[in-house]
Amino acid sequence: MKPTNSPKTYRVKSFGCQMNVYDGERMAEMLGERGIVPAPEGEDADLVVLNTCHIREKAAEKVYSDIGRLTKGKTQDKAPMIAVAGCVAQAEGEEIMARAPAVSMVVGPQAYHRLPEMLDRAVQGERATDTDMPAIAKFAALPERKRTNPASFLTVQEGCDKFCTYCVVPYTRGAEISRPYGDLVTEARKLVDAGAKEITLLGQNVSAWSGEDDKGHTVGLAGLIRDLAKVDGLARIRYTTSHPADMDDDLIAAHGEIDKLMPFLHLPVQAGSDRVLKAMNRSHTAESYLRLLERFRAARPDLALSGDFIVGFPGETDAEFEETLMLVDAVGYAQAFSFKYSPRPGTPAASMEGQVAKEVMDDRLQRLQAALNRDQWAFNRATEGRTCEVLVERKGKHPGQWLGKTPWLQSAWFEGDVGIGDLVQVELVEAGPNSLAGRLRERVAA
Ligand code: SAH
Ligand code: SF4
Ligand code: F3S
Repeated sequence: MKPTNSPKTYRVKSFGCQMNVYDGERMAEMLGERGIVPAPEGEDADLVVLNTCHIREKAAEKVYSDIGRLTKGKTQDKAPMIAVAGCVAQAEGEEIMARAPAVSMVVGPQAYHRLPEMLDRAVQGERATDTDMPAIAKFAALPERKRTNPASFLTVQEGCDKFCTYCVVPYTRGAEISRPYGDLVTEARKLVDAGAKEITLLGQNVSAWSGEDDKGHTVGLAGLIRDLAKVDGLARIRYTTSHPADMDDDLIAAHGEIDKLMPFLHLPVQAGSDRVLKAMNRSHTAESYLRLLERFRAARPDLALSGDFIVGFPGETDAEFEETLMLVDAVGYAQAFSFKYSPRPGTPAASMEGQVAKEVMDDRLQRLQAALNRDQWAFNRATEGRTCEVLVERKGKHPGQWLGKTPWLQSAWFEGDVGIGDLVQVELVEAGPNSLAGRLRERVAA
């Protein structure tokens, strides 16, 4: 590649989970430190960071089509500089470099603190790949948090040792590591100073977080949440994603004791058949999962539940899929994510016998989603008439309209004289399948 001018504007496009979004924000902050500014809406950026996700097939394909779209009909001096980051970069870095000559930088999710150096090299015309996994080093090298949204993310734990047989995450994100307690308290304070009212603690297995608190005691996620709840100005705490194997008594108790911990739990189950769960290498059964939820509900009766599901795991029979529907009926989820099984290169399930036909998966997904949508709407209807606190996150579609989140993570929209970041009391007037219409009651102090 030829040397080129230093980029003046950037755009970061994040395609994955919340941690991927968090990484995207941190990359944007680093570019900001270099004096590069976000490209104005609707205008081309000089540097585009494609922050990719590898969890299902289509996500990776989208990256290649995006690269094509960004460079189509453009000579090198007109096309943007392209960096591919995220989990596809980690898994397929070499392949991307070979397949897409327009890409100048490939940087994995544990190495993106080195993006500025790579940028310097790219300006000299050098293509660079960095998919090292120095674990925790990244965070120390990142700039301080200076700007954020009212509802912010904070990565507390990364990586996964669970090795569910369908999943790429243990390969793209590496082994489980916990960020140190002190760093997290500091970052949370900075986020609050920058305007955050709510913080969602993130980890691929967030409930596996452990650390040493300021008194030298070993604490788990519940201990961290207890201490973060003492941060003045922070009104709400959430965490995601948990694995049923790491939920301890302390975390269950925390849901009953800490007001700032929102009444919401995202706890993926994946399937309702014990045979399938075993083949997935999930360490729970349908029964143990249901018992665990009962304990959470006993601690916090108004807890809203969320989950993830995979349909069509290799060998899943019709009868086994019915067990997933039965589990859904038993739980009554407030919301959930469901996916068709997607074979991921290098994972054990990809070479298992009994890969399920696409039409069968389509049919199962449709039936599962019908059940989940029904329950989500029922949950929303059950909150109709309640007045609750809403954190205003953005403007709605119509003038004077605002959109925020209830404690149960429902989207609620309403009209009134408020601003982004306000915590207001809203009466939930009418429930739709995906959101609720509300009426502003009053503001509340944070
Ligand atoms: N660490 C989290 C998130 C993993 S990815 C957890 O354990 O829950 C988010 C979801 O994507 C998973 O819960 C699973 O439902 C889905 N998923 C992961 N791999 C998949 C695959 N190969 N095909 C389809 N869905 C998958
Ligand atoms: Fe993937 Fe399983 Fe780890 Fe979640 S717990 S990231 S699904 S391997
Ligand atoms: Fe995707 Fe990586 Fe997150 S594969 S789901 S961006 S951890």
